[in-house]
Amino acid sequence: MTAPYELLVRDLTVARDRTLLLTDLDEPELLRQHDPLMSPMVWDLAHIGQQEDLWLLRGGEAGRPGVLPVQVEALYDAFTHPRAVRAALPLLPPVEARGYVAAVRDRVLDRIATATPDDDPFDVAMVVSHEEQHGETMLQTLQLRRGPALLGTGAALPPGRPGVAGTSVLVAGGPFELGVDGTSEPFSLDNERPAHTVDVPAFRIGRVPVTNAEYARFVADGGYTTARWWSARGWAHVADAGLQRPMSWHADGTRTRFGVVEEVPGDEPVQHVTHFEAEAYATWAGARLPTEQEWEKAAVWDPTTGRRRRFPWGDTEPTPTLVNSGGTALRPAPVGAYPAGASPYGVEQLLGDVWEWTASDFTAWPGFTPMLYAQYSEPFFGGDYKVLRGGSWAVGASVLRPSFRNWDHLQRRQVFSGFRLAWDA
Ligand SMILES: [Fe+2]
Repeated sequence: MTAPYELLVRDLTVARDRTLLLTDLDEPELLRQHDPLMSPMVWDLAHIGQQEDLWLLRGGEAGRPGVLPVQVEALYDAFTHPRAVRAALPLLPPVEARGYVAAVRDRVLDRIATATPDDDPFDVAMVVSHEEQHGETMLQTLQLRRGPALLGTGAALPPGRPGVAGTSVLVAGGPFELGVDGTSEPFSLDNERPAHTVDVPAFRIGRVPVTNAEYARFVADGGYTTARWWSARGWAHVADAGLQRPMSWHADGTRTRFGVVEEVPGDEPVQHVTHFEAEAYATWAGARLPTEQEWEKAAVWDPTTGRRRRFPWGDTEPTPTLVNSGGTALRPAPVGAYPAGASPYGVEQLLGDVWEWTASDFTAWPGFTPMLYAQYSEPFFGGDYKVLRGGSWAVGASVLRPSFRNWDHLQRRQVFSGFRLAWDA
């Protein structure tokens, strides 16, 4: 087996261990639809196997027979069955779903064992990314679930530093290289490519994401009852959805996190806010959201060398002293917890912790070419979405990339979504 495949087999195993851990629940928990926005978790489980079967055993040719009978496999097509109806489908019971994903994985490992240096491992990387993204999706489901805690309170995190919340850094104007290529990031997805030069005027950006304590001041200041801080759409959504504070916060200053009720910690980045809420807070604070071009420049551009870094801190792989990811913490780290993870401009906690809403619509970079899974990005370009950057505490390693682009509807907040502020300089 060649070196890239050896690493990918490790990544497949890490992703699968998490999938099996998150779905190691009683049958009713897996079969229940915990929220109309989410699938029953037994659907996620078998869908992970279905996508692996389709891309790694059949090269994406849905017409070729797979491990499941055609009519059963069709239940796991995300484009055919919206999330809200998936619980009503005759899904494989958990035991059969586990057997199915294991059978697919066995065949995939057999195939990988015979790979040659001429084979392109991108398809395997794409499938790892898919499974890791569903790991995060299942954590969203478990956060929306009502009932006693199933996951505990999460792994320990480094302490924050006082004095960093609310501070910002200046990013001088000028061109930088946005996006990546297959040569520099062979496992990057289609919407991150190609690398191209973009001129970005000078701006200031928050050193760290906006914290719960900062956001609580907006709530206390009547933020949710004052129209002028909101866009017209955002204000209409506040009324329609009855928004009063971030998802899972309570009026008494507590929050529910994976079934555990606790004081809202002031020094953690705020999470579970819509794009509308992020934007309204920014307006109230005399700021705005960064564009994704600004965000990426602040994250990776090194003005001293005039080149991109692979990660904000440099070119070395992420470690737990640099970033909070992987999902075991079950929460973002306090701001200032990762000084060693800062970018050349001194911006911190760009990767991990919370997805950060940007001001940008989801569009193709110039020269975009669809990847093997051609429906991954292209159908969503120009839709009613805003881009989120940086990944949350729940993302897997294959998603932890400064060029990675997530997108969602502006009213969504089951995502582990927060934001940082920006200002024209
Ligand atoms: Fe999927």
